[in-house]
Amino acid sequence: MPTLLHLDSSADLRRSRSRSITRAFAEAWTGLGPERTVIRRDLHRDPLPHLRDADLHWAPRLRPADAAPPAEAERVQQEILDELLAADVLLVGAPLYNYSVPSTLKAWIDHVHVPGVTAPFDTDTQPLRGRPAVVVTSRGASYDAGTPTEGWDHAVPMLRIILGTSLGMAVSVITTSLTLAETVPALADQRDRGRAELAEAHAQAAELAARLGRSVPR
Ligand SMILES: Cc1cc2nc3c(=O)[nH]c(=O)nc-3n(C[C@H](O)[C@H](O)[C@H](O)COP(=O)(O)O)c2cc1C
Repeated sequence: MPTLLHLDSSADLRRSRSRSITRAFAEAWTGLGPERTVIRRDLHRDPLPHLRDADLHWAPRLRPADAAPPAEAERVQQEILDELLAADVLLVGAPLYNYSVPSTLKAWIDHVHVPGVTAPFDTDTQPLRGRPAVVVTSRGASYDAGTPTEGWDHAVPMLRIILGTSLGMAVSVITTSLTLAETVPALADQRDRGRAELAEAHAQAAELAARLGRSVPR
């Protein structure tokens, strides 16, 4: 049964652009047939704890001899890992917060990026290698090449390193920028571009969901 793991992390429950785009993706996914499953994890409504113990960053066999992470923290981490490992496609709503990801999404990353379990360390461990990961990023401003803010977005590059380089997933990124043009007067002259990017992001989400949904095993 092809399974989509759908994560959202926006703290905006009324106007969130990333939530609207991930919803469009998930609807296109389920529209492919009744056997398509969606596992939903809302990291804002139901936040994970911060990583309780640094030793949880490592596979048990790589931990120091005196490691003793709390059993409940290990149970939570295993649940999050099992959910990710069982997914055929990962969908991540990742709004830009203070040039990075929301802390709720960072807590999820801290639970799943585990050398020796999901990422290589002394062996070539990459159980998610080649699996699709779709990152939906929504940004209040713009970060165009050649402008003073080029390179200020530290969310997408970090997600590409963790999900792509380290976990080996096949990462696609859907971007909508200038979302604040609707409400911030200084950006008002860029509203048309913001609206066009949002429409394009919705179209990309539907197209990508259909393509990935057809490519994973039934
Ligand atoms: C706590 C917080 C921090 C933000 N920091 C940035 C930022 O660094 N750069 C930016 O372009 N927009 C920033 N914004 C604006 C959001 O990126 C923008 O509203 C985006 O649309 C949020 O995604 P959402 O629509 O899915 O909620 C911030 C918003 C919040 C709530």
